[in-house]
Amino acid sequence: MSKEKPWAGRFKEKTARSVEEFTVSVEFDSRLAYWDILGSKVHARMLARQGIISEEDAQKIIEGLEKIWREIESGRFRWRSELEDVHMNIEAALIELIGPAGARLHTARSRNDQVATDVRLYLRDEIDDLCRRLQGLQQALVDKAEENIQVIMPGFTHLQHAQPILFAHHLMAYFEMFQRDRERLADCRRRLNYCPLGSAALAGTGFPVDRHFVARELGFTAPCANSLDAVSDRDFIIEFLGAAALIMMHLSRLSEELILWMSSEFAFVDLPDAYCTGSSIMPQKKNPDVPELIRGKSGRVFGHLLSLLTTMKALPLAYNRDMQEDKEPLFDTVDTVKTAVAIMGEIVAHLKPRPERMREVCEEGFLTATDLADYLVEKGLAFREAHAVAGRVVAYALERGRRLWELSLEELRRFSELIDEDLLERLSIEGSVARRNSFGGTAPERVKEAIASARTRLSQDET
Ligand code: ARG
Repeated sequence: MSKEKPWAGRFKEKTARSVEEFTVSVEFDSRLAYWDILGSKVHARMLARQGIISEEDAQKIIEGLEKIWREIESGRFRWRSELEDVHMNIEAALIELIGPAGARLHTARSRNDQVATDVRLYLRDEIDDLCRRLQGLQQALVDKAEENIQVIMPGFTHLQHAQPILFAHHLMAYFEMFQRDRERLADCRRRLNYCPLGSAALAGTGFPVDRHFVARELGFTAPCANSLDAVSDRDFIIEFLGAAALIMMHLSRLSEELILWMSSEFAFVDLPDAYCTGSSIMPQKKNPDVPELIRGKSGRVFGHLLSLLTTMKALPLAYNRDMQEDKEPLFDTVDTVKTAVAIMGEIVAHLKPRPERMREVCEEGFLTATDLADYLVEKGLAFREAHAVAGRVVAYALERGRRLWELSLEELRRFSELIDEDLLERLSIEGSVARRNSFGGTAPERVKEAIASARTRLSQDET
């Protein structure tokens, strides 16, 4: 029997080779084996507790499944594509191994509730792993921020010089993004943590199963409430793909900045050779391929999100084979996001800012023009008027190829009587940064507080 497809009973013909090849999923869903076996063991224990199978059979099943897991883990297990998927491969191997007791495992269950359970268990573990990696990246950002607390860089809007900020403040902006990502994953995990087992094919089962026992033993909050929904719901995967797409979007923005900052035009940061690659034709090149690839890989994760939404759209209840298409996008997303987060953590840890160059750029532009306007406001001018005066001063300095603080007091006073000697300190880069001390601002005291609060939040596990 084990050599045959478990569902072959009503069929008179062998499955066409082309159909086998088209429908097979074991090449990719064998990745679920660990969780499939975990679920089966608990299912077998429940069947015995409820008197649906004997204790001896349950014992044989559990031992058989453990033996099969050891074979799979060590790579000795032979996956058979004619047995379609991970579930039927393991079940067939069990029957081959322990005989009739193995054939009792599939009582009161179907592959529909089985696969839904497997994927939830798998994804729950992967979410925990991903959250730990995100924490590692956040840790690297906080450490780098603290280490460089005195470094000032030009802040940008529209990619134009805007106002001086702390380099640490810029890094901490990413900390916040990844914090939200972790919260989103925790939220997704909370909602996926319900157990489909016992929903059987779609309608539930007449066997006296204990769904609460199974849910509890597998660490789920509770059994899924509706058997149809339990076998046809893939929201939890789509939610995860959405959260993953946002993580990739954040990583891609950080990558883009690193790529810009590594260019000779910016030259704000340096990365060690170990994290760069060269050109096969231009000997002078040191390329930021790693952030470029992270930026590029965001596209495939966005694509996976859209692909599963499209697969699920308009599917009638309950299970449809279309849903087998959920796995490759999910697995590829998990692999892509996990490696991208981890390697970005390494990159941040090895990032070397170049404070002299950042300072040079701060002094090049008119980054403290807002401070001039603010100064005039403090002396009584309305902000709009002050803005216009400061604009005229900038134009005047630009025409003469000079910087704001290189203008004499006498020249400055021609623009406004309100200007006094105390302005010169206000136009300094340090003065400008220090004054932006509103909550969440870039003043060193505020950024130090932000770092301290980040360390506290980092030690709290979001999941
Ligand atoms: N390989 C299938 C999937 O991933 C498992 C469920 C199959 N159920 C069925 N009735 N054909 O969706």
